[in-house]
Amino acid sequence: MTDSNSGQIDHVLIEDRLFPPPAEFTKTAVFSTQEQYETMCNQAAEDSDNFWRGEANEHLHWFEPFKEVCKWNPPHAEWFVGGKTNASYNCLDRNIEAGLGDRIAILWEGEPGDQRTLTYSDLRTEVCKCAEGMKQLGIGAGDVVSIYMPMTPELAIAMLACARIGAVHSVIFAGFSAESIADRNNDAGAKLVITADGLYRRGRVLPLKATVDEALEKSPTVNHCLVLRRVGNEDVSMVEPRDVWWHDVVDPQPGELPAKPMDSEASLFILYTSGSTGKPKGIRHTTAGYNLWAKRTFQWVFDHREDDIYWCTADCGWITGHSYIVYGPLSAGATCLMYEGAPNFPAEDRFWELVEKHKVTILYTAPTAIRAFIKWGDEHVEKHDLSSLRLLGTVGEGINPEAWMWYHKKIGAERCPIVDTWWQTETGGIMMSPLPGITATKPGSCTRPLPGVIPAIVDETGKEVDDQHGGMLCIAKPWPGMLRGIWGDDDRFVQQYWSTVPGKYLTGDNARKDSDGYYWIMGRIDDVINVSGHRLSTIEVESALVSHEAVCEAAVVGRPDALKGQAIAAFVSVRDREPNEELRKELLLHVRKQIGALAQPDDLRFTATLPKTRSGKIMRRLLRDIASGKEIAGDTSTLEDLSVLAKLQEDE
Ligand code: WTA
Repeated sequence: MTDSNSGQIDHVLIEDRLFPPPAEFTKTAVFSTQEQYETMCNQAAEDSDNFWRGEANEHLHWFEPFKEVCKWNPPHAEWFVGGKTNASYNCLDRNIEAGLGDRIAILWEGEPGDQRTLTYSDLRTEVCKCAEGMKQLGIGAGDVVSIYMPMTPELAIAMLACARIGAVHSVIFAGFSAESIADRNNDAGAKLVITADGLYRRGRVLPLKATVDEALEKSPTVNHCLVLRRVGNEDVSMVEPRDVWWHDVVDPQPGELPAKPMDSEASLFILYTSGSTGKPKGIRHTTAGYNLWAKRTFQWVFDHREDDIYWCTADCGWITGHSYIVYGPLSAGATCLMYEGAPNFPAEDRFWELVEKHKVTILYTAPTAIRAFIKWGDEHVEKHDLSSLRLLGTVGEGINPEAWMWYHKKIGAERCPIVDTWWQTETGGIMMSPLPGITATKPGSCTRPLPGVIPAIVDETGKEVDDQHGGMLCIAKPWPGMLRGIWGDDDRFVQQYWSTVPGKYLTGDNARKDSDGYYWIMGRIDDVINVSGHRLSTIEVESALVSHEAVCEAAVVGRPDALKGQAIAAFVSVRDREPNEELRKELLLHVRKQIGALAQPDDLRFTATLPKTRSGKIMRRLLRDIASGKEIAGDTSTLEDLSVLAKLQEDE
């Protein structure tokens, strides 16, 4: 962990290029002056109740008004206490009543190229049918429904249908194993699983239902399985009376079902995410606060306008899909492109083909994807007209300045602001990000907090550190979108997030604030390494490696070293060069040159690809184990490709 005595290395992530917002953009932006932002931040900080009362009254529909804005019994917060609202109502009925019934809500394209468009009215009809169907399967308010589906409109429909009747959805990314599904079903006590006969991935069909069948053998709480026919898989086994088809149970329903007024603090969903231990935790979000946070952060950060075609490339199996495909944009009446498949099928230009075809104006994707595009080559981008784009976003990990610059130049044609959005499953929505009309950006910085977010960077004793000095990033005050708990494990919630620094939410990330008040996320607390008394962020070393033209991707971890405390181990994938001794030396020298001798990796291994979770995060825990020669321990159920691990181990 970083502290004020940690040596010089805290400050090396220096990036002094500054990209002011284009004047054209600022003219019509939601935030068009710095004063507007400052005023809102001040109001939200100093008169929080009034600020959020106004926001909630204006931007959500209330069946019954709330009586209290925020009840804060640390670490338990309740927002908009006593009120009743419904997230599906806010996403659908509210827009339809405002005259947007014929606006396209979801513009969908399947991997094989099939297309569908659903207006807000169409979407409400489908949601009502699904909700009615679920009711007939015995699902009501408070029941947990697991959703294990391809990225079809029915995935969003199922989520909103749960919200409509007060059921709690638990979306499980459709790449997880049967074991993981069963664990989640059991932890949450799920009564229904919604799935499909299969999904398309790079032209192949993955048999989702077969995986669910295996999970259901170990899921005693589940009474029914509702199955969408997506791929026409003939081999699906339907176990009666447990399993029913979507087209039998959902399609014949009338398509009108009033949204159930829900308490502000009723659980809206659970989403499982990996913690510092091997066992995923069910992050619990509630109705009103989450809905408001998702909607307002969407409007602020993406500067949403009526004629935008917005595309978030995430999967609904992750929080980004929850907040920025479903609840945020739909509450705001946006038109969302939704794509089912892989970015490189049938070819590496699929994303750019989609942007051109659908005239996408806002694109929100992940640095890992951007790095893949760089690797695949600019020719795939250059084939397409991307002039519809006006705003770009990234999420999920820090973006290295090289990837940022490529995104800026190749995709944004130096015309589109980039919003590097920092947030977490737990925060419900974006916490820090540039506001595209007013924030001058620096490649690699998520810049400043949104109104209502009060960050604090603290040392091990919980004391706030001086600006410039890195430390643990905490959030000092509750915000509407914050997690309300870990499903069924309040002790873990308290222990994990609120015990290290009493009274503050511990994000688990390290951060540094520069002299302009910009925040730089320096990696997870457990990614910080201490080499000969110098504290280093692994991201810094990775960034240095990736800035070498031969490096595609790099992951850096610490391993125990008798002399230095920790030594630096680097895993590197390269392009256009032989991974040989000469290149190894060149890269070590490159890091020395970029950061200094103390940051030079002790080990540098070449690898074809890096082991990643299915959400695209590099599995550092695994790399640390490999680097230190340990037996591989813990949950590796999210490994994208076990052969990667096997390959690395062979090289031991
Ligand atoms: C990391 C994803 C740097 C961070 C929304 C955080 C980032 C974790 C950024 C949460 C960013 C996410 N810059 N790091 N813009 N965005 N992270 O829960 O370490 O999947 O704590 O939520 O991703 O990941 P999660």
